[in-house]
Amino acid sequence: MSDRLLVEELAKRLSGKALIGAELTDDDIKGIDIESLSALVVSYFDKSKGVNLLDKAVLKAIAEMRREEKTPVQIEISKPVGFRPEAREIEPDFKIYTTENRRTAATVDDFSSYFRDRLGRLRRVIESGRGLSSGLVYSIDKLNGYANGREVTIVGMVYDKILTKKGNILVTLEDESGIAKVIFTKPDAGRGTGIADAFGMASRIVHDEVIGIRGKIASPFLIANSVVWPEVPVRQRRKTEERVAMAFTSDIHVGSKLFQERQFSRFIEWLNGNIDKNKELASRIKYIVIAGDVVDGIGVYPNQDKDLSISDIYKQYSVLFDFLYDIPEYIHVFMLPGNHDAVQRAEPQPKLDAGLFKELRQSNIHLLPNPAYIELHGIGILSYHGTSLDSVIQGIQGCSYSRPETAMLEVLRKRHISPIYGDNPIMPGKRDPLVIDRVPDILHMGHLHRNGYMEYHGTELINSGTWQARTSYQVKLGHLPTPAVLPVYDAAEGSVWPVDFNEA
Ligand SMILES: [Fe+2]
Repeated sequence: MSDRLLVEELAKRLSGKALIGAELTDDDIKGIDIESLSALVVSYFDKSKGVNLLDKAVLKAIAEMRREEKTPVQIEISKPVGFRPEAREIEPDFKIYTTENRRTAATVDDFSSYFRDRLGRLRRVIESGRGLSSGLVYSIDKLNGYANGREVTIVGMVYDKILTKKGNILVTLEDESGIAKVIFTKPDAGRGTGIADAFGMASRIVHDEVIGIRGKIASPFLIANSVVWPEVPVRQRRKTEERVAMAFTSDIHVGSKLFQERQFSRFIEWLNGNIDKNKELASRIKYIVIAGDVVDGIGVYPNQDKDLSISDIYKQYSVLFDFLYDIPEYIHVFMLPGNHDAVQRAEPQPKLDAGLFKELRQSNIHLLPNPAYIELHGIGILSYHGTSLDSVIQGIQGCSYSRPETAMLEVLRKRHISPIYGDNPIMPGKRDPLVIDRVPDILHMGHLHRNGYMEYHGTELINSGTWQARTSYQVKLGHLPTPAVLPVYDAAEGSVWPVDFNEA
């Protein structure tokens, strides 16, 4: 066994940015998150001159730096007289359900058991739903035994989807037994509306998702007439007896020159009763869920340095925590990482390493992995940063950056956090932790920097926007963010109240 497995992984991450001293062994770095360490090393060499060589002396200097760094508190909160927050009187009631985020070697075996698990679990969701009519064929290889013209339903994972020369859509569906070629016929004036519906449905099919398809056998093809997604059942909206409110936010991007510090400070002041606007709502906030990109990070994209006001990852987290420590202690804060944070990029992402900010001074701040499922007073909340939304928007007509809820809805109906494999890296394992087993009462995401809300079958979809002003990248792509608007969910009423912290 090599004693440089961790070192080799670190070297891969630092490739082109720093060299690793030959004397370093796994013992020197064991117990430290590789992603966080590589971010630190990059940050360290950004400020130093000479050769970027990571040796034992530099490791020691980095450890020192972690201990010594201290950033001044950004704001001073005064407690107003006469502000008696209702939420302080309410007993906290939360459950955290997190899945194991064990790092695997991402071998072919890991991937095959990962996809097998996804197929098996989503197949059960589809089969237990209402969308399936009779004629279910339990494995694709059995199709050969059926006569032409027979109506059947098959379930599988989408291996491929192409537009044929004739303008039809050809979907290859796969299960453990084999593959089926399914044709969605292009509708024309002479055809019935059923075909048109199926063709329209096919435009929402994406690679790697698990679906059911109903159609007629026309060997060697199946001619589709409808698609069955895993879906979520129609439910009554769940409400709490206690008058609690929950704030949802994300994409704070502390450390970016475009971080809206003034507006974010107003939000913290508001929680403390120092701002008159919507004061009653502020007094009822018992929980805050933060869905990642809490800092801008370092080295996330080429030449990011010129966009940073704080180029040290520790200082970024330190400034963020100075804000969070000013949140009243009766409010519980749940915080996930996103693609800008100092954790591994592959999902599920582990929770932030507490070493990034020395220690958690307050027990009301809970660090969670991404995605995370929590229950607040019985309300199930699935919170996910939203990185997969990019590929969903690219892959499905009708989904857009201007309406984040449209892409979130696809994720919910497909019952998978990251349905398309490829652009959004995943950490494979025996079980696919990104399958949405529990139907949430609230599905919360960020990432798109634009607020969006929708109610679907009793689930509230919330995209919580950002605290970062419009970036030049967003200008180039024509994206319009909605910074400093905080969605607050009134759990007793079951309604969303966006609070605007942009000055009037
Ligand atoms: Fe972001």
